[in-house]
Amino acid sequence: MKQFSSIPETAEYLRNERNQGLTIGFVPTMGALHEGHLDLIRRSKRENDLTVCSIFVNPIQFNNKEDLAKYPRSLARDSILLEESGCDLVFAPEAEEMYPDQEPASLNLSFGMLDKVMEGKFRPGHFNGVAIVVKKLFDIVQPTCAYFGKKDYQQLAIIRYMVNTLGLPVKLIPCETIRDADGLAMSSRNARLTVKERSLAPEIYAVLLQVKKAAGNMNVNELKEWAINKLQEHTGFRVEYFEIGDKDSLMPLADWDNKNKAVAFIAVFLGDVRLIDNVELFL
Ligand code: PAJ
Repeated sequence: MKQFSSIPETAEYLRNERNQGLTIGFVPTMGALHEGHLDLIRRSKRENDLTVCSIFVNPIQFNNKEDLAKYPRSLARDSILLEESGCDLVFAPEAEEMYPDQEPASLNLSFGMLDKVMEGKFRPGHFNGVAIVVKKLFDIVQPTCAYFGKKDYQQLAIIRYMVNTLGLPVKLIPCETIRDADGLAMSSRNARLTVKERSLAPEIYAVLLQVKKAAGNMNVNELKEWAINKLQEHTGFRVEYFEIGDKDSLMPLADWDNKNKAVAFIAVFLGDVRLIDNVELFL
């Protein structure tokens, strides 16, 4: 497995491979890898000649400095996991390599309503930072296909919007959320939960599954209220938002008229760790 930290070196290496007609699958990450990430790597490997993974804790997508400082970093361990999964190239740049001079976050992109709700509302500037780095990574890697988890459903919608509006020549592949055996969606942030918090955390998915069962039978607003109360019955949880929205526009749904497109989204603090999850309600 190759490991590069320089943009020109990575671009040049991949240009040669592409010129030989090889397809490139790309998995952008922020490292602290877990099975969710590795599942994307394995899928890319099955579907492409070469698989590239980037590891970069992107400072401009953190609206909270403390969250950035506490974000887990484990490049040596990540490289071993990637090598074992059959990844061909890791691109792990320093921040100065990606952002040498000007403050790129001053570039303001527009995503219609997609970044006005949920994560966009509670993490101002977050998706702008995500889109800037993903565009930059796409320019460097120029992948045939790029793999993203539905765990970050809104992120996927934002990137799809960017790819469509800019007409970028990459095929986006949405991948299912990988969970621990007890249902907790895998996340690099799970490592920051205390033992007590970790034992409570599966309740998030359990409530989402109960919402899925009740969807259609209960009024949307009543169901939302029920879910928030249910979770907050357990001390330690603080729900930031619970929303039932349209799978494409992400706009909140007021009734079940378009129920096949309904997705339940949640962001919840468990202690000081912020977790997100979602389920498609009628699939
Ligand atoms: P990160 O949180 O490291 O996630 C990298 C990719 O792994 C994303 O596409 C994410 O949706 C996916 N992923 C994370 N947990 C998953 C799970 N449990 N099951 C399936 N897929 C999962 O998302 C980012 O990094 C960054 O915002 C990035 C796109 C790299 C831009 O900086």
